[in-house]
Amino acid sequence: IIMQYSDKVMDHFMNPRNMGSIEDASGVGEVGNPTCGDIMKIYLDIEDDIIKDVKFKTFGCGSAIASSSMATEMIKGKSIHEALQLTNKAVAEALDGLPPVKMHCSVLAEQAVKAALIDYAQKHNIVIPELEGYEITDAHEHEEIEED
Ligand code: FES
Repeated sequence: IIMQYSDKVMDHFMNPRNMGSIEDASGVGEVGNPTCGDIMKIYLDIEDDIIKDVKFKTFGCGSAIASSSMATEMIKGKSIHEALQLTNKAVAEALDGLPPVKMHCSVLAEQAVKAALIDYAQKHNIVIPELEGYEITDAHEHEEIEED
């Protein structure tokens, strides 16, 4: 089977935005999918509640790389509150869709952003109400996966 990827997925895979790491990042989030073995790491530089800079390192498939690239673009310059609204569905839509078996790659992007914000909150001793009780689950069992 040959999978169909959108031009946007191909573009973000071939020319990933914000790839790399941030030294002394305000928050770092690392998540992985135990089934495919892919790992995604997001670094945030936060100042006055605003995400000044964001970088990613993804050891994974093309869709995971494209999803991390797109997710970083979507939260750069945004407030923490706005970044928390980022869903895997929004990332996939911004990429003009992902094949159903690749939707979990976008889930990793949403989880990595949230994990980095949790790390930020813990390091700075602040409470982010939206993240209270948030649990990072296996992307394959993630209830927000949309496969249409
Ligand atoms: Fe698992 Fe893409 S195949 S993250």
